Amino acid sequence: MKKTLKYLIIIDIIAEKGDRMMKNDLPLTPKFPKLLHGGDYNPDQWLKYPDILEKDIQLMKQANINCVSMGIFSWINLEPEEGVYTFDWLTKIIDNLYANGIYTVLATPSGARPAWMAQKYPEVMRVNQDGVRLKFGGRHNHCYSSPIYREKVRQIDTRLAKQYAGHPGVILWHISNEFSGECYCPLCQEAFREWLKKKYGTLENLNDTWWTNFWSHRYTDWEQIQPPQPTGEQDIHGLSLDWKRFATDRTLDFFKMEKEAVHSANPEIPVTTNLMEFGEGLNYFKFKNDLDVVSWDSYPLWHNSLQSDARTAADTALTHDLMRSLLHRPFLLMESTPSTTNWLDISKLKRPGMHMLSSMQAVALGSNSVQYFQWRKGRGCSEKFHGAVVDHYGGSDTRVFRDVAQVGDRLKKLDENTDLYSTCVSPECALIFDWENRWAVEDARGPRNRGIKYNETVLSFHRSFWDLGIPVDIADMECDFSRYKLVVAPMLYLYRADIQKKLADFVRNGGTLVGTYWSGIVDENDLCFLGGTPGGLMDVFGIRSEEIDALCDGEHNRLMMCGNVPEGMKKEYSISDLCDLIHCSSAKPLAEYGDDFYKGRPALTVNSYGKGRAYYLAARTEDPFNRDLIAALAKQAGVQKSLDTCLPDGVTASRRSGKHDYIFVENFNSVPVKVQLPGTFRDAESGESLSAELTLEGYGVRILTEA
Ligand code: GLA
Ligand code: ZN
Repeated sequence: MKKTLKYLIIIDIIAEKGDRMMKNDLPLTPKFPKLLHGGDYNPDQWLKYPDILEKDIQLMKQANINCVSMGIFSWINLEPEEGVYTFDWLTKIIDNLYANGIYTVLATPSGARPAWMAQKYPEVMRVNQDGVRLKFGGRHNHCYSSPIYREKVRQIDTRLAKQYAGHPGVILWHISNEFSGECYCPLCQEAFREWLKKKYGTLENLNDTWWTNFWSHRYTDWEQIQPPQPTGEQDIHGLSLDWKRFATDRTLDFFKMEKEAVHSANPEIPVTTNLMEFGEGLNYFKFKNDLDVVSWDSYPLWHNSLQSDARTAADTALTHDLMRSLLHRPFLLMESTPSTTNWLDISKLKRPGMHMLSSMQAVALGSNSVQYFQWRKGRGCSEKFHGAVVDHYGGSDTRVFRDVAQVGDRLKKLDENTDLYSTCVSPECALIFDWENRWAVEDARGPRNRGIKYNETVLSFHRSFWDLGIPVDIADMECDFSRYKLVVAPMLYLYRADIQKKLADFVRNGGTLVGTYWSGIVDENDLCFLGGTPGGLMDVFGIRSEEIDALCDGEHNRLMMCGNVPEGMKKEYSISDLCDLIHCSSAKPLAEYGDDFYKGRPALTVNSYGKGRAYYLAARTEDPFNRDLIAALAKQAGVQKSLDTCLPDGVTASRRSGKHDYIFVENFNSVPVKVQLPGTFRDAESGESLSAELTLEGYGVRILTEA
């Protein structure tokens, strides 16, 4: 209780100063600064089953649950008729949970609306690309512009805040659910045109920027502008890019409206919204200034037949890294499945050990929670077979329940015995992933319209860091790079946010930069640079790109290292997809093409620039090359690994640092492995002293501290 009060006072002081940096030093959920374990709880589906509701509390305690997320899809039970609010059931449940030591992450219900609202105000429903207004049903399908929807949401959010923001058990606001998608209704189109007017001022400026004399597509009236769509305009890349930027801004604007509503009663309760994997259409970096806490929903397809669990783990790690990088502080794993999903083509069960391992993976990369969708399986509708902690069977004597209870027990003990909560991963390397670049590079008609593979390329470089156990942040072009030693910038097709200057400064001041083919091709408006590419960075890389060759699927060229092969690198690697034909000005070739008419021309170069070095990779290389290159450059740049050893395949290490450091060593192989330890360590949980060799069980994870 004392602690809670202390934190509330700190928040007061900080709120006054408005100092975001200091706010970031606070616990994520000051009222309950603990590693959270729990997840989505939907008691509103069980209001007619009092025995079940009672049993929930008992089972939650048994499963070491200390936190639930509630109200996410509760609108119909909170406002069964327009203007009639029925919060009593929720109050009773929040009170009861709190009395039992279980805290609540309270959601605003805007992710899905009641039927009465759609019936009375059809404008709340979204309009699809074909101009068809959606009928009532589903979720996440409302219009973000509709004044009526906004007002209804604001009203219920304000009431929820008034009722619960002072409740000692309510620790965090969960705004809406998984924001996504676009609406093409007249209101959204009008808002888009207003957005454009603000951005471009005059129609002439817009036309020039969008290059609309192409195909005579010049607009002569603002009203002629419509969003890109299959039955209309799809060839103005500036329009497509701006529409996506607008969609992010619109969603963010809606989020901010909700944030303001819940903060109207008490601005001290932090706010989050559950984000999704980095594959979705919103630019999450734009949300960072308005989120107090970052959280996301993680549903990797473990044990699939396309790739190893280690690859799946590395891919998942990218999103964990991204979420942590948004605010450079711990985040929350808001949803994950305790066993299986039910929306994939094939839904496999997590093999024994995987639940603990995948949960600890999130924690290892900076999550201060392990939360699930959902606590108890519903009886009906489309998620009745989605994995949950409590099955229809209803008892605790199940494999999944035991797995969950074990994770909860482990988190509880870590909280009691360590200061893990107040540590975070602090990488010396960054990998650039930029949403606007992604939209533009995927929209362009260029060398490979089937398989430009931007995401895959970012993932491949990220896997190198994962395999080597080197911590890495994910940055977009708006980020500050001065904190890093090594920056990898694959396929920066579109340059924006002064990235040329930032990267030049970074290298000049001693940084190591890796750039690649298909970079610096267009400016922020998707207009090609004139005078040579990579536009604005030719002197930093010491090269000029002249043309780019595309290989067919299955075709390969070879990258042959020349001169002094950096330590640990092989003489020859395979390349595919894209080969950039470059000229060196001041750069030195480190590798050349092995085949085709450009055999012998540079494929990898290095340029000394100021105190640093800029590497230019001209061709798409594969995982083995990327890993060897990153290993060599990280070593040369003096980058620390999480554990200074050579990790076996399928094993990674990550380090959370603070007053004490915690090194998570994770084995994504189903069989045991041995890891050579570079010194003496202590097992942070058992206290056991460890040196020489560490044995990890199949899917095992150990947490070490320095002895
Ligand atoms: C998402 C949603 C949840 C639930 C899960 C199922 O993450 O936020 O409401 O539908 O998917 O996997
Ligand atoms: Zn709309």
